[in-house]
Amino acid sequence: MNGAALQVRDLRKSFYAVHALDGVSFSVAPGELVGLIGPNGSGKTTAIDCISGLQEPDSGSVELDGASIFRYAPHRLAQHDVVRTFQGVRVFATLPVRRNLEVAMLGRLRGRQRIAALAHRRRGWPGIGDLIATFGLEPVADMPAGHVSYGQRKLVEFAAACVRRPRLLLLDEPVAAVNPTMANVIRDRILELHRQGTSILLVEHNMEFVLGTCQRVIVLDEGRILVEGAPEDVVRRPIVQEAYFGR
Ligand SMILES: Nc1ncnc2c1ncn2[C@@H]1O[C@H](COP(=O)(O)OP(=O)(O)O)[C@@H](O)[C@H]1O
Ligand SMILES: [Mg+2]
Repeated sequence: MNGAALQVRDLRKSFYAVHALDGVSFSVAPGELVGLIGPNGSGKTTAIDCISGLQEPDSGSVELDGASIFRYAPHRLAQHDVVRTFQGVRVFATLPVRRNLEVAMLGRLRGRQRIAALAHRRRGWPGIGDLIATFGLEPVADMPAGHVSYGQRKLVEFAAACVRRPRLLLLDEPVAAVNPTMANVIRDRILELHRQGTSILLVEHNMEFVLGTCQRVIVLDEGRILVEGAPEDVVRRPIVQEAYFGR
């Protein structure tokens, strides 16, 4: 299963007078790892929300491998292996960590596959044990997800996105407020998915993290793309230094 090509054209989204997205066009090639950066309020989350069906864009187009996914609902995108994580982590707080992953798996399956997964439930879900081990979540696997640390919840959310290899993964600040040890686990998982061919759009404030992982960087400012290119070129641009680092 290869990564999908994402093509976003002239995406617009306003909240009353605020043009959160003011005509944004960009692409992510199959298997590409692209960083989306920009100051607070520049529209990064809104871009992910509009692609992932959480917000309805006002206009524009969003295509996956050349077919429109414009205004597709999140559950429908999940079945196309388009998944996202949230800036403020979202898990099912009262469900055990393991159950969170099972629910995520069900969400990714359709029809007969879903019925088969349910039928196998008592013998344990294929792949879930491995995923728990890979993410180092064994010690908390049977704890309610709401009771584990913030960093571990970030890991649970990320693991939930990986119950099946995503074709397109949209990450909204995956290492924000996460301690360096867990941030490294998350970085390794991102790079592993990248090696396996998943297309990834990564929103992240931690510039070191972006520069160390992304192949290409897009800079948003006030709902528009300011500049895009190779990470080392982009950060050197005065306009980026000014808008992003305030100098
Ligand atoms: N649900 C909303 N209602 C009103 N304004 C919003 C909403 N979501 C985002 N905005 C506004 O849109 C702009 C872009 O926000 P956002 O996409 O969250 O930026 P970023 O993720 O880059 O920090 C900001 O001015 C923000 O206040
Ligand atoms: Mg945001």
